[in-house]
Amino acid sequence: MELMKAMETRRSIRAFKEGETVDKSTLEELVKAAQLGPTWKNSQTGRYYVVMSPEKMDSVIKNTLPEFNQNSCKGCSAIIVTTFVKNRSGFDRQGNPDNELGNEWGAYDLGLCNQNLLLKATELGLDTLVMGIREEKALRSELSIPEDQEVVAVIAVGYRTADAEMPKRKDLESVATFF
Ligand SMILES: Cc1cc2nc3c(=O)[nH]c(=O)nc-3n(C[C@H](O)[C@H](O)[C@H](O)COP(=O)(O)O)c2cc1C
Repeated sequence: MELMKAMETRRSIRAFKEGETVDKSTLEELVKAAQLGPTWKNSQTGRYYVVMSPEKMDSVIKNTLPEFNQNSCKGCSAIIVTTFVKNRSGFDRQGNPDNELGNEWGAYDLGLCNQNLLLKATELGLDTLVMGIREEKALRSELSIPEDQEVVAVIAVGYRTADAEMPKRKDLESVATFF
């Protein structure tokens, strides 16, 4: 799929088709696409917890998401919880932050990589929903996420039941300054 088309047609989907499955090799393709993203000094601190089994998915959804997000990802085929290893991206060899952003660079890298994952999903005919409103401690406990990783986004993957409108984007003039 042409890149621009993938960027335009990717949507946050909040109604997934029940009973659809996504096989492990497809989910591996998504994570491999994420790994192609650029990262601070190639630090590659993103980590992916891919939940495929229906029982585990039910438990993750029920125990770690607020009700409105639980409803949105009903019927999804997989859940990918994304984290990054702290104190590496944005840090020098001695472990000191290279600038004022510190660990925010880890989140920045993960976001770049996660967008690859979303666009790859679009190319493969899959839909996604990124969820930032989730319970960090519950995710750690469900998936044994170690304390040296920062828990970031939960991504539902599946097939849409219907098309969604693109939420309006701001005018170029209000977001870009040209000199
Ligand atoms: C970091 C991040 C966190 C988000 N968290 C949620 C969430 O918890 N629940 C939800 O329904 N949508 C969530 N979204 C989806 C946004 O609402 C959505 O991307 C935005 O409205 C633009 O729509 P689009 O993705 O279809 O272009 C999140 C998106 C991002 C990037």
